[in-house]
Amino acid sequence: EAALLAAVEEIRELKKKHNAVVLSHFYMPAELQVKHEDGGIADFVGDSLGLSVAAKTVEADYIIFCGVKFMAETAKILNPVKQVLLPSFDAGCSLAESITGADVRKLKEQWPGVPVVAYINTYAETKAEADICCTSRNAMDIARSLGGDKLIFLPDLYMGRNLQTKIKAETGKELILWEGKCEVHEQFTPQRITGLKLMYPEAQVLVHWEVPDNTVTEALKGAGGIVGSTSDIIRFVGESGSRQFILGSECDLGATLRGMYPQKEFIVPCIKCPHMKQITIQRTLDSLRAIGTPHEKLFEVTLEEEIIKKALIPIERMLAFA
Ligand code: 13P
Ligand code: SF4
Repeated sequence: EAALLAAVEEIRELKKKHNAVVLSHFYMPAELQVKHEDGGIADFVGDSLGLSVAAKTVEADYIIFCGVKFMAETAKILNPVKQVLLPSFDAGCSLAESITGADVRKLKEQWPGVPVVAYINTYAETKAEADICCTSRNAMDIARSLGGDKLIFLPDLYMGRNLQTKIKAETGKELILWEGKCEVHEQFTPQRITGLKLMYPEAQVLVHWEVPDNTVTEALKGAGGIVGSTSDIIRFVGESGSRQFILGSECDLGATLRGMYPQKEFIVPCIKCPHMKQITIQRTLDSLRAIGTPHEKLFEVTLEEEIIKKALIPIERMLAFA
């Protein structure tokens, strides 16, 4: 514990020294989500959309990104004059890794003229081929807003199927999907949710858009609940009269919810994202210690100018939409 507190203290000092801010995702371990003003290290904690908006307006020289690589890339694209440091480049994402820019080009040849919506969980070269990006928070509104009777949604198969159910009923629009899956959320099977509901029949169920479609059906039966983004889940708990919830999303979001709503109870099957967990206090400290040394480039997010220019277009379209 003493070592952790000493590392937090050093990070706070180095942030000041190097004019750096820390952006931290809701799936980070609890100690990385504590706000700077509360004695922690985070200047902003949010979901992927919130972090993108925050990255765009950062005035500090350095952005230390406590999240995964596709998020840090998005920050770099939105604010390329800043130095964006990622404490570990092992922080990947099974969705982002499921598709390349070349795959999107092939899809576009196969479906000429059909708009391409790329989930933010993609790398920059994939985004560069898309018409518009979305996050789990605005996917439904963006999909609804596009003209035509088809759209290509990539790369999350389950999220695509979940969107498809709603969109088809509302507009008749058909989604062309890719086969990507989130290795964390695919583990929330209907059986897992049924078992927990039998044990906690009063609990409402909170599932992320990335869980399988048959899990969503199971989750919303009985006491009800929500399928949504991380922020939708947080908001839903605040507004719900229920006091017990089953979480069908990343384990550390459970810590966030318990911190925000101490009077409510959360049943959290602890499935952690191995990519998010690559980011630790120690590695965050290492990235700050490297500033101004030859090691700095080990942490630096770099993208070709051409890719930044092309990927910025669909991201800006998404932000304008919001
Ligand atoms: P959010 O858009 O809800 O932050 O989700 C990011 C993510 O990686 C979900 O697995
Ligand atoms: Fe990717 Fe899933 Fe991890 Fe989110 S939780 S970063 S989608 S692997």
